[in-house]
Amino acid sequence: MSGGLFISFEGGEGVGKSTQVRRLAARLQAAGREVVTTREPGGSPGAEAIRNLVLNGSADRWSPVTETLLMYASRRDHIERTLRPALERGAVVLCDRYADSTRAYQGAAGGADPELIQALETFILEDVRPARTLIFDLDPELGLARALGRPDAEARFESKGLDFHRRLRAGFLAIARDEPERCRIVDASGDPDAVEARVLEALQDLPGFGVAAG
Ligand code: TYD
Repeated sequence: MSGGLFISFEGGEGVGKSTQVRRLAARLQAAGREVVTTREPGGSPGAEAIRNLVLNGSADRWSPVTETLLMYASRRDHIERTLRPALERGAVVLCDRYADSTRAYQGAAGGADPELIQALETFILEDVRPARTLIFDLDPELGLARALGRPDAEARFESKGLDFHRRLRAGFLAIARDEPERCRIVDASGDPDAVEARVLEALQDLPGFGVAAG
């Protein structure tokens, strides 16, 4: 992807990713970069419509395999309409969740076959893959308490119980272990300023990012 830079933000519930996406976007914009902030599931009109289907309703409304297919339908639309054009223009793209969420939520925690997910990555993502993925890590008991305190109707995954969220955390940590070049684990405990400092540190080696900490 010529010119652009793709950074994804990942982790369990209530880890504070969205706050950090906003802070980093403001910092990069102040430094004169074109920044596109987006999220999954969603980030394009079609993908947002699928988001409504997949995030609302009872915890068992969809099976993990069906969820995987819905996430990938929404992801493909997001790639075609939002991500690829932004990266081709040379923008910095900050995406709140991406393909690792499917590996962790539907795969590691939900039990969907990793081979199915791998095949979808190959055929659907193509070369639209993050240069850096920040994996926000927090004790799931703390994260769930934070997430359930939010006035937020989209609670299918938050309602899945602590065991699910423990498998989820292990899933994300395994991704970071398997792909150390791409991934950095960010300790999500403490106040937003402390977490922001860790985010900047985790991006220092990216092209043009020495300035972000300035
Ligand atoms: P959201 O309200 O954006 O939660 P958060 O603030 O935690 O990011 O809802 C996104 C939910 O969708 C979240 O519970 C994780 C889930 N999800 C998956 O299960 N698989 C996926 O591939 C993606 C992108 C998200």
